[in-house]
Amino acid sequence: MDNKGLSLTGGPFLLVLVLVSSLLLCKNVASMPPCPSGVNCEVALGDLFDHAVILSHYIHNLSSEMFSEFNKQYAQDRWFFTRAINGCHTSSIPTPEDKEQAQNMHHEDLLNLVLRVLSSWNEPLYHLVTEVRAIQEAPDGILSRAIEIEDRNKQLLEGMEKIINRVQHGVRRIEAPSPWLGLPFLQEADKDTRLFALYELIHCLRRDSHKIDNYLKLLKCRIIYDSNC
Ligand SMILES: *[C@@H]1O[C@H](CO)[C@@H](O)[C@H](O)[C@H]1NC(C)=O
Repeated sequence: MDNKGLSLTGGPFLLVLVLVSSLLLCKNVASMPPCPSGVNCEVALGDLFDHAVILSHYIHNLSSEMFSEFNKQYAQDRWFFTRAINGCHTSSIPTPEDKEQAQNMHHEDLLNLVLRVLSSWNEPLYHLVTEVRAIQEAPDGILSRAIEIEDRNKQLLEGMEKIINRVQHGVRRIEAPSPWLGLPFLQEADKDTRLFALYELIHCLRRDSHKIDNYLKLLKCRIIYDSNC
């Protein structure tokens, strides 16, 4: 039997091999293109989750620090710290109250919930930065953290969109962000009213960032480690 024509060391085969491998190399070296449909050039889902959890933890840390900075600056002589919070603008979004409730939610619902809460913060965070900037005596520690949180929140939103596209295979359910009606209070002429609105907003931010951080840690454990963590 003559199988010389099928020899794998033959010239034409080598040429094809060289062409294919240089194509693959080019693909790897090129900056990461957006990958629409589950091909190999994607960042691993685990890495996306790692990044999201680091961000959400950082945002929660910054919010807690901003909250204590605010209290340090304004708590001594303000009556409003004994006043009840009216409620957060995100309260209309039903969220699990504890770990068990969160565990019982379908992970796609929980992912979309995180996305919805995060996107509900876009507008108030923008105004938080603007209004804190306008307060003469506001300590730098509040403004710098507000700026950083606004920025990181956007990054986390982008990361969540990538995760959700991956987990839901490109099927997106768009849920409207919860409306924020607090701007007139933040811009109120009366200083106490303005400060109380700011206090409420920072309080709610700390609360929501804590929730999001917990949900994301739980989701990472469920989706990446199959709940073995
Ligand atoms: C935030 O993180 C820093 C650095 O890791 C840490 O020192 C600080 O205690 C944290 N703050 C809060 C409120 O957790």
